[in-house]
Amino acid sequence: MPSDSDLEAIKNRLDIIDLISDYVHLKQAGQNWKGLCPFHTEKTPSFTVSPSKQIYHCFGCGSGGDIFSFLVKYENLSFPEAVSILAKKAGVVLKTSNKDAAKTGEKEILLNMHKDAAAFFRQHLSKSEKAKGYLTRRGLDDKTQKVFSLGYAPKTWNALLTYLTNKGYGPDAIRQAGLATQSAKGFYDTFRDRVMFPIYDLKGDVIAFGGRSIDGDEPKYLNSPETIIFNKRRVLYGLHRAKDAIKETGNVLFMEGYLDVITAHMHGFSNAVAPLGTAFTQEHGKLIKRFVEDVILVFDGDAAGRKAVKSAANILLESGLNVKILAFPDNEDPDSFLRKNGSEAFQHLLESPLSLIDFFMQQKGDKRLIAREALETVSRVSDKILQGHYIKMLSEKLMINETFIIEEFKKIRNISAKEERAAPSKPQLIAKPSEEVSLIKLLLQYPEKIDKALTVLSEDDLKNATTRIIFKKIKGGLKNFNELISTFEGAEKAFLTELSLRGEGDNPEKEFDDCISRIKDNNRKLLKLELAKKIKEAELKGDFALLEALQAEHQKLVRHGKTQKQ
Ligand code: UTP
Ligand code: MN
Repeated sequence: MPSDSDLEAIKNRLDIIDLISDYVHLKQAGQNWKGLCPFHTEKTPSFTVSPSKQIYHCFGCGSGGDIFSFLVKYENLSFPEAVSILAKKAGVVLKTSNKDAAKTGEKEILLNMHKDAAAFFRQHLSKSEKAKGYLTRRGLDDKTQKVFSLGYAPKTWNALLTYLTNKGYGPDAIRQAGLATQSAKGFYDTFRDRVMFPIYDLKGDVIAFGGRSIDGDEPKYLNSPETIIFNKRRVLYGLHRAKDAIKETGNVLFMEGYLDVITAHMHGFSNAVAPLGTAFTQEHGKLIKRFVEDVILVFDGDAAGRKAVKSAANILLESGLNVKILAFPDNEDPDSFLRKNGSEAFQHLLESPLSLIDFFMQQKGDKRLIAREALETVSRVSDKILQGHYIKMLSEKLMINETFIIEEFKKIRNISAKEERAAPSKPQLIAKPSEEVSLIKLLLQYPEKIDKALTVLSEDDLKNATTRIIFKKIKGGLKNFNELISTFEGAEKAFLTELSLRGEGDNPEKEFDDCISRIKDNNRKLLKLELAKKIKEAELKGDFALLEALQAEHQKLVRHGKTQKQ
């Protein structure tokens, strides 16, 4: 992580208006600048940039932050990536800690090793008629083989090992990368006599390999183990080549295998990706959501494919993605379909993918079973309006009255809610009470009020997790808005930018006193409720000493509340 002083130095040297003007046409409007929001579609500008606060906020979609958050969101970068780009722009040299440096060193070695290994495999492909023949038989032309940097791991025990050792990598490091395996007799190459598919991260660095056997050896596909540069749950095969096409077409094609993806790209469908021999994960959902919301599942037409569609749909719907399904006739997969029928036929299928409900309706069998299965999936949809739409559609297609469908839906939802409750739960956060929001807003707009607020309130008085942490940080000394905001990310940051740009009320003095007394009032009410509960318990237990003490406390609270009101 970059240090706070580095972040401050970058912020001091760059101006948010300059930076954002490279991406958005901004016009001055009073103290602020305005433009059409790049993060959602709008006709009148609600995207506001403040030069004095060096922040942006969109009053249409609610996104907001500083120069770093803007770049993260606009260019789909991680925070450290955005910092390093802006540091260069600002001419700030980033300091790295020793621990960071060691880790960076380890990562760099692994990345270099994978790069070298990919070059080795590539070289050996050109020397192997057998491997070249295999790829040609699978319909992949030279250009595609080059674009995906396909290779071949020769049928020897130590060719790669020798090659990498000569380049200076230690055998243990090679083993950790999964490129060598250790036995009693020593180290040997993990991948032998396989066609090699390099797996890339978003930046385009090779981080792992998948190797397909040519002569029917098991397993059919052998993949690299997880390392500090490779986490299967977070990587999608082909994404680094697909991301531009995904943004352009506005959707992504999720396929099952490496060869499906490569064949799709070769036929002009460059928005195709696949997981790495695992099921789709929530992390994949989040990753894709950085680019688009619409997903088309393009899976095999067999029973296993249908099953995979259901589990993928369940995961992706929970991530808030819209899911459609392209079902193939009988046992075709995208690879075989494209090679048999060509791009046009595939394009034709793509133009009318099945909706979630139609996918379930295609199943043969009992209407009730279809309804239940569909509803289970519909219960995962996070958008309530969309959920309602699916329920209505299901009732129409099944020709069953909507009230019955809804009743069944409630039952199913309750079962899954119960399962969720049984699982270890996250701490419950309450929605932000308006008085807590007003308080934070006033503290941001009138820092001179901070001292008074600190004397009458403590962070425990605030009931919402976000307002509480903001208050705590202000109390801890972050009284300057800019310092405060750089300690937050995501939704909390957007909350802060929104508040700081929100219009000022007519009477901030009164608003301030009101929200403090409302916060205090609420707390007294909560305390009273808690006390009443304890009193009941003491009564039940017959603990009269405790009862008396609690009642005295209760009296005090009631009296105190009355004097405060006058
Ligand atoms: P499939 O068996 O459907 O393979 O596995 P495929 O893509 O059609 O492969 P070809 O056409 O026979 O070459 C789909 C995906 O599951 C993973 C791979 O990622 C593969 O692309 N897989 C499959 C493994 O990881 N290991 C295996 O042994 C098999
Ligand atoms: Mn296949």
